[in-house]
Amino acid sequence: MWKLSALLLAFVSCAAGLNILVTNDDSWASANIRAAFDALKADGHNVLLVGPAIQQSGKGGTFVLPTTNITHPGGEFDSIPAGAPFFGADSQNGDLFYFNGTPSATVTFGIDIIAPKKFGSTPIDLVVSGPNEGQNNGPFLYTLSGTIGATYTAVERGIPAIAFSAGNGTHRSFTTNTGEPNDPANLAAQVVKNLVAIIAAGVNASQERLLPLGVGLNVNIPTFGPASNCTAPPFVFTRLTGGATVNSIAIDNTTGLPVEVDLVATGVNSNINGVREDPGETPTSADCFTAVSIFSVDYDAPERIARPIQHRLRNSIRSTQF
Ligand SMILES: *[C@@H]1O[C@H](CO)[C@@H](O)[C@H](O)[C@H]1NC(C)=O
Ligand SMILES: *[C@@H]1O[C@H](CO)[C@@H](O)[C@H](O)[C@H]1NC(C)=O
Ligand SMILES: *[C@@H]1O[C@H](CO)[C@@H](O)[C@H](O)[C@H]1NC(C)=O
Ligand SMILES: *[C@@H]1O[C@H](CO)[C@@H](O)[C@H](O)[C@H]1NC(C)=O
Ligand SMILES: *[C@@H]1O[C@H](CO)[C@@H](O)[C@H](O)[C@H]1NC(C)=O
Repeated sequence: MWKLSALLLAFVSCAAGLNILVTNDDSWASANIRAAFDALKADGHNVLLVGPAIQQSGKGGTFVLPTTNITHPGGEFDSIPAGAPFFGADSQNGDLFYFNGTPSATVTFGIDIIAPKKFGSTPIDLVVSGPNEGQNNGPFLYTLSGTIGATYTAVERGIPAIAFSAGNGTHRSFTTNTGEPNDPANLAAQVVKNLVAIIAAGVNASQERLLPLGVGLNVNIPTFGPASNCTAPPFVFTRLTGGATVNSIAIDNTTGLPVEVDLVATGVNSNINGVREDPGETPTSADCFTAVSIFSVDYDAPERIARPIQHRLRNSIRSTQF
């Protein structure tokens, strides 16, 4: 059995409201992002939502800006008419914005253009991305997922950020939310609210960062709720590596076409930087736990690994060390 450092799900509300920018990749009209916006707002935070106009899953950190107004067939779930401007606010709620770009471009538009109007001279304390419709586990998803792409884009800018991904992968509009506490979007939103409260507890965000510079969190929520035997998944610290998969390719015997097959591969599970004792986020969030991994955007191999390579190649490649 793993040694788990679990934090209880139930948690007190946050003392002082944070300036939170909420974004995602499944579009500004998805049920999960709207539920997260509502839950964070209800917990006393100053929340601004800037999400992609359309579904932008699988875009990773790709940075694509709009070059036209909204084109046919309009925004996700008919949320924006074709011909509308490349960005805009909801007519009922001026804190809900769409932007017609990839997740990385969308969060950047939120940071540079929209947030200063909402938060004035006070900075964004936290970017919350998601909850994604479906989990994003392992280093391979770190580069593939738009939810995580928006997150590391914010971390690169110096803003603490958390990617949330939920086990329930249903792509659906906020208009389908039942409004019941056990709606999967509302359940995931409570996990978001609780983790933000845990991160913020005891921190005066106007004096201190919520997470160190260059560091963010990747959080994977299991499928849970009244219909499942998982009802209250505790938070558990994990690492990205450990039981993680990458794509491999096989040839389909009947069609002769290449098909993707998940493979637990050695490279993606080499624990170079993670806390040794922590379990992998992939097996952890497949069970009844919410996996909390701490990542950094410093992709340099650590010194203990880089130095021996530098030493071996010292006659051919100049180094300040040798
Ligand atoms: C884009 O939308 C704006 C605002 O509605 C409008 O003024 C502009 O003419 C539109 N541009 C194009 C190329 O349709
Ligand atoms: C996932 O969410 C959809 C939409 O709310 C719901 O119909 C479905 O039952 C959920 N699946 C699970 C396994 O909870
Ligand atoms: C947090 O810090 C700010 C700026 O220093 C200060 O004005 C505020 O009173 C502090 N809030 C709390 C709850 O201590
Ligand atoms: C193709 O057939 C082989 C041998 O029967 C089998 O092992 C393999 O899984 C099949 N591959 C695919 C992609 O169906
Ligand atoms: C839930 O129930 C299934 C089927 O009984 C079982 O295989 C699984 O381990 C259970 N999961 C948890 C988290 O208890």
